[in-house]
Amino acid sequence: MGYVTPKSAEMMGKAILPVWSKAEALTGDRAAKTQQLKLAIEASANATFDPLQKKVLDYSSGGPENLRTLASTSLSDPRVISLPATQEFLEPLASQITRGAQEPERRTELVGPLIKLFSRARWDMPKTDEQQKIFYGLLVPSFAPERGKLEENTRNLLQMEKDPPDWYLARSISQVIHSNPDLQTPALLDKFPKTFATPMDEMLWLPTVKWLSSYGTPLPAVKEEPKGPDTLTPLRERAVNLFVKQLIDEKPDRRLRNSALALAADPRIHTDPKIRPALAKVKPAYVEEDVPEVNAMPAAWQANFQYFKNWVAPEMIKANREDEFSCLGCHGVAGRVPSMELSAADENGYQSSKGLYRNYTALLERINENDVEKSKILRKPLNVQSGKEDGHQGGRRFNPGDRGYEILRRWVLDAAVLKTQKLAGSAGN
Ligand code: HEC
Repeated sequence: MGYVTPKSAEMMGKAILPVWSKAEALTGDRAAKTQQLKLAIEASANATFDPLQKKVLDYSSGGPENLRTLASTSLSDPRVISLPATQEFLEPLASQITRGAQEPERRTELVGPLIKLFSRARWDMPKTDEQQKIFYGLLVPSFAPERGKLEENTRNLLQMEKDPPDWYLARSISQVIHSNPDLQTPALLDKFPKTFATPMDEMLWLPTVKWLSSYGTPLPAVKEEPKGPDTLTPLRERAVNLFVKQLIDEKPDRRLRNSALALAADPRIHTDPKIRPALAKVKPAYVEEDVPEVNAMPAAWQANFQYFKNWVAPEMIKANREDEFSCLGCHGVAGRVPSMELSAADENGYQSSKGLYRNYTALLERINENDVEKSKILRKPLNVQSGKEDGHQGGRRFNPGDRGYEILRRWVLDAAVLKTQKLAGSAGN
């Protein structure tokens, strides 16, 4: 459990450090020593006191091997510290991941916590290209082409609940690099292969399509599809082709097909003109038309709706790195927030046309067109607390200036103008 205030966390931290040092100094009974060390590490979880967290960090990569996993799970508050993206830090942990992949029964214990930590933590990326290359070389696995052949021949046999080690590794590291924006760098893209030697490589890189479509683009604006740097065009095409391949393959690998279908829930993917026709054949539910009310709107409102659909709605589904909640994780759960209930997304994060329209109108109502800055939809997610306002029970979801918040803001400002122009009649009011 967390300690309630920063002060009490610091007090706890100061109390734990000497206990820990004492345990380290114990000689003789090894089991007793390990037990004491374990207690100190466990007690450190969420004690947000820098010197203590640094010690936990040291233990998670360089401590006694039987305590490393415990230490890495005790770094459970990724806000406290940034992980150094260095060889010294990563090497022992990367080999723990590889080893854990070979032992299915111990994966949850050996690998699970590290994958979670790597996916959520802030990373301190090294400055030089050379160092970044070394880092990704350790993090991103490569698979010998002959292992792919083995995979081809025995594919049906291997489609079992527990992934074989290569697959497990591909999926885990895929999750890390595609969910953590700190790791999405040009040096990572340098590793994005032109051709894929094995299906595991395809699995590893498949989700690139999701973030690369908006990578390096300026903030999107209503009626303006942002364009990324031209240098990325071939990479984006490669990512789309890899994706489409999973949809049109006549004898698809189920695991790749299912991952592709899950990714297709994202509007940036299912509205892509190259992807849509292929998707229509295998998952028609994800290529629905917008509800008729949208088509009946004036053009300016339609543009506002499309911006909401393509950019704002995905922000409502995105899990916050800190607490893993998304807006819909609270507001989309029936009965949880009666003052503003939104339509939930499906298990992949797909929002039906109906649900999307419902959420659009619900949030439009939270825009105060007469005094935009006072709009609930702008203030609640920042958890603004003042004499007259009591913040947001869902806590602070964004900081001003966050890309997600700026996207929301652009939508709100555009809609507020439309609302004052009294075009609102056709947008759900
Ligand atoms: C952990 C749960 C949780 C999360 C996550 C969450 N909220 Fe909330 N939200 C609440 C609760 C509870 C309330 C009702 C109490 C209040 O107004 O603070 C609320 C109220 C609101 C309201 C005011 C509704 C009204 O009309 O009174 C808005 C607007 C809102 N949230 C927007 C958001 C947005 C946008 C996000 C995501 C960026 C979000 N919330 C994420 C729990 C959450």
